[in-house]
Amino acid sequence: MPRLRKLRIRAPGGSYPVLIGSGALGELPALLDGGERPSRLHVVTDRRVARSHGDRVERLLGRTGLPLSRTVLPPGEGSKSFAQLERILRDAVRAGADRRALLIALGGGVVGDVTGYAAASLLRGVPFIQVPTSLLAMVDASVGGKTGINLPEGKNLVGSFHQPRAVVIDLDVLATLPPREARAGWAEIIKTAAIRDESLLGLIESESAALLGGEPSLLARVVERCVRIKASVVEADEREAGLRMVLNFGHTLAHGIEAAQDYGGLLHGEAVAVGMAFAARLGEALGRTPRGTAERLERLIAAYGLPARVAHLPFERVWQAMSRDKKRGPRGLRWVLLARAGEAMIAADVPEADARRELRKFLADARTQRRRRSRA
Ligand SMILES: NC(=O)c1ccc[n+]([C@@H]2O[C@H](COP(=O)([O-])OP(=O)(O)OC[C@H]3O[C@@H](n4cnc5c(N)ncnc54)[C@H](O)[C@@H]3O)[C@@H](O)[C@H]2O)c1
Ligand SMILES: [Zn+2]
Repeated sequence: MPRLRKLRIRAPGGSYPVLIGSGALGELPALLDGGERPSRLHVVTDRRVARSHGDRVERLLGRTGLPLSRTVLPPGEGSKSFAQLERILRDAVRAGADRRALLIALGGGVVGDVTGYAAASLLRGVPFIQVPTSLLAMVDASVGGKTGINLPEGKNLVGSFHQPRAVVIDLDVLATLPPREARAGWAEIIKTAAIRDESLLGLIESESAALLGGEPSLLARVVERCVRIKASVVEADEREAGLRMVLNFGHTLAHGIEAAQDYGGLLHGEAVAVGMAFAARLGEALGRTPRGTAERLERLIAAYGLPARVAHLPFERVWQAMSRDKKRGPRGLRWVLLARAGEAMIAADVPEADARRELRKFLADARTQRRRRSRA
């Protein structure tokens, strides 16, 4: 078995290990035996992940000899709801959870977010372990301690900060991840590189074939870099006062697109890819991002099979949805722009008229591109 990568993340709310590599799941029993031994385990997963990995994970957990119970959620964003949160809490309590019970989130970001929030709420807080199974959850959602659910009024409107006791990233589970979901994960990796690490950007540019082929040691390196970057940003700014906002590069427009499509269109990662292309174009138009940066980013986005434009979206709908986003500053939308490839900056002073003009152009561009393609 290849060596596992291990790092420790320090945040004001707690410090925890992250294990990364093929076969990392095998470390779960030892992880649970060391330190404070829980009274029992409650696994939360979704049906799709359960089908592929549930039995094996429960067998591994069985080696601890701890009593084990579970809640299996329907797959999809809809599970970040009060109804599913209540199910998790009641299942855990009925199974006998006390303050030393430990929850295990086995799944993508949806399972991670709702399970983390359940752990934060159950008996005013029990520990939990993140076992992310989607690429997006591995590089983004499982690290940083943000947990929560959605309201019909909007995404992630209810939640809390609750750090996991550990994060176990086993790259082998990606073998069953649907390709479209894998590509969506790459969008967050591109984002991470674009905002903080030009050498990582260079690596994913030059090694796209190997990485898309799932080359394990290279992939482990990239995942580790992303976890480290997210951790360093979060360590410096656990509660999103400032720096953490750079993680939202591409997300201002992405959230607008997702809402304008009633969350039934592009996947989050796909919308982020489009959002990054726009943020780079906007930065160039404002003279804050060096010329050519958007081209470079769009080439990379395309190399990972992601869209850089979206068609059929009326400007006003997107703009309105964007303006409702919770990450607004006192002076309107705050944009995350690229000072250069590998370094983000926060711009709270982008004149609304400029942003509107550039977005109009950008959305119109999608339409002309589509026409060009359909003529070809
Ligand atoms: N807490 C944070 O900091 C943070 C950061 C980014 C995203 N998020 C949240 O994460 C969520 C998105 O996460 P996601 O993209 O992982 O979505 P997801 O959890 O819905 O997973 C995507 C799909 O892939 C399936 N799946 C996951 N792993 C699989 C595997 N190994 N094999 C087969 N199928 C698998 C799931 O069943 C699901 O259908 C959003 O709700 C978002 O708000 C949270
Ligand atoms: Zn995101």
